[in-house]
Amino acid sequence: RQRYTGLIERYRDLLPVHDDTRLISLGEGNTPLIRLNNIPRELGVDVDIYVKYEGLNPTGSFKDRGMTMAVTKAVEAGSRAIICASTGNTSASAAAYAARAGITAFVLIPEGKIAMGKLAQAMVEGAVVIQIAGNFDDGMRLVRQVAENAPVTIVNSINPYRLQGQKTAAFEIVEELGRAPDFHYLPVGNAGNITAHWIGYSEYSSGDGHSVTAACNYCEGHCRFAGAVVGSRPVMVGYQASGAAPFLRGHMVDDPDTVATAIRIGHPQSWNQAWKVREESGGWFDECEDDEILATQKLLAEKEGIFCEPASAISLAGAIRDIKSGKIEPNSSVVCTLTGHGLKDPDTAVKQSTGPMIKIAAELDAVKQAILDNIS
Ligand code: F0G
Repeated sequence: RQRYTGLIERYRDLLPVHDDTRLISLGEGNTPLIRLNNIPRELGVDVDIYVKYEGLNPTGSFKDRGMTMAVTKAVEAGSRAIICASTGNTSASAAAYAARAGITAFVLIPEGKIAMGKLAQAMVEGAVVIQIAGNFDDGMRLVRQVAENAPVTIVNSINPYRLQGQKTAAFEIVEELGRAPDFHYLPVGNAGNITAHWIGYSEYSSGDGHSVTAACNYCEGHCRFAGAVVGSRPVMVGYQASGAAPFLRGHMVDDPDTVATAIRIGHPQSWNQAWKVREESGGWFDECEDDEILATQKLLAEKEGIFCEPASAISLAGAIRDIKSGKIEPNSSVVCTLTGHGLKDPDTAVKQSTGPMIKIAAELDAVKQAILDNIS
């Protein structure tokens, strides 16, 4: 059995790399799929809800899955610099993989609109951080224009290698469950990730099981893919924040706004692809208000001990809503992707925490009293 060295090595035969490609990896992927216990019980519903905790990737978000591929291919092609526009997580990931590769990362971020943890990452990892007086969509437009005139490789999800890396999340889920789930919920911003998951599920389901098993170098063919049921794909459901919901409006939105800054996007880059995913999977798009997003972030942390960033909580918020309304039948299996770690955005988390913060003298009696007053 090999040591785990990242998703390219693990799914090598299903990814566009050569035997002699130098892999740029930080051990990304292989994230836990956690079955929720307390939330379904309290809701009184008979649905298996799993969360795929992508916040446990090396830089704290799913972007690392795509970035390991994008930077590996950029380096293979001789590129000395990468560039992206970002609401924060892509920039943190690009900065880390560029550092690992020994190349330069340029990141364009909307001034004042990215969470503190993400900014800290890009800065400490040595990226050239360019704050623009505009939003993500402005940044994306500029990155597309500048890449035509300068020797830099774009590592936003319009880079096709990003989606190739991100499709591996679907492989891991199938491997873990022994089949595809009935429903898969994702937050949608640019719609790259929902597209990537659909590619992954589709490749898996069109395989005969053997092709997938043989491709798994990590376990030499002994992983749980071996007995997996092929041929099924989940219904894909994409949720957007109400203030940044072009898929709900049916057209691009010029002034997107939401507390979930990661998905503060009005001009999704994978517009056509995401509509196709919806159609092919029989899925739907829906939206959540900011207060529902934050309430779900807190619910997940308080009831299950899982801390994700606000944008990520929208997948679970949507699933809970659709379970309550009966859109999801009892006995279904649902996977919600938690795209980023809660520590990315400590300010929002602290602001909405109402738990007791007790200040006392540094004395035994005072501590005892505090315990007696607060024990549940
Ligand atoms: N969740 C988080 C935590 C994200 O950072 C993003 C996108 C998404 C969901 C949406 O994924 O764009 O593939 O639909 N963040 C990008 C960034 C835009 O710059 O970090 P998508």
